[in-house]
Amino acid sequence: MPKRGTVIAIDGPVASGKTVVGKKLAEQLGYTFVDTGAIYRAVTLAVLRSDVSLDAEDAIVGVAEGSSIDITSPTIQDGRLYTVLLDGQDATWAVRSPEVEAHVSQVSRIPGVRRALLGKQRALAARGRIVMVGRDVGTVVLPDADLKIFLVASPQVRARRRYEELRARGQNASQEGILQNLLERDRIDSQRIVAPLKPAEDAILVDTDHLSIDEVVAAILRELDGE
Ligand code: DC
Repeated sequence: MPKRGTVIAIDGPVASGKTVVGKKLAEQLGYTFVDTGAIYRAVTLAVLRSDVSLDAEDAIVGVAEGSSIDITSPTIQDGRLYTVLLDGQDATWAVRSPEVEAHVSQVSRIPGVRRALLGKQRALAARGRIVMVGRDVGTVVLPDADLKIFLVASPQVRARRRYEELRARGQNASQEGILQNLLERDRIDSQRIVAPLKPAEDAILVDTDHLSIDEVVAAILRELDGE
């Protein structure tokens, strides 16, 4: 069994399954689950709701520093995996809107934004017994994590997953449009100078193309048990 206080970092590209896998894993272990993408999305939403332009980097950093963002267990049972509070207001679904999706990579590549959010993420993990998912959790946020997983999947499989997820929520989108959006986000996330998307040297790569969610969770549990 994992030792007390265990910290698990899961990273991977857009729609690699991090969130749903991380949530299930946390549930099975009785750990806290934190999706760091939601924190970047909340800052992006705050910027879009303000009169700050998306080119004004310093002002965007000010928004990141000045916003109060909280991730809690679900406050409503409406299919959400967690609740996102932005300045005390429920922003759980708003952070998943197409507008946020279109701008989140642009906002999260700003070094000052990442700096502003780093302490917050580390504070959330400080008590251990946590599954934290994102892009740079194993490399930057929690380099001392007990277990680091990097999920990979082909762009086509990821586009199909995202398409099905949106349809299940009653939203319309073309699979081709989704594929283009995720390739563009992959490009920005992996090429940015600060904390680019890449596996930590000691991360275990899990190819999820041919695995179900439960199979990915089982593979991670096996790693945790040291099998
Ligand atoms: O995982 P997601 O799609 O919710 O993430 C949204 C964006 O947030 C992603 O395109 C890049 C950014 N992000 C990041 O830069 N670092 C993280 N640890 C998590 C997300």
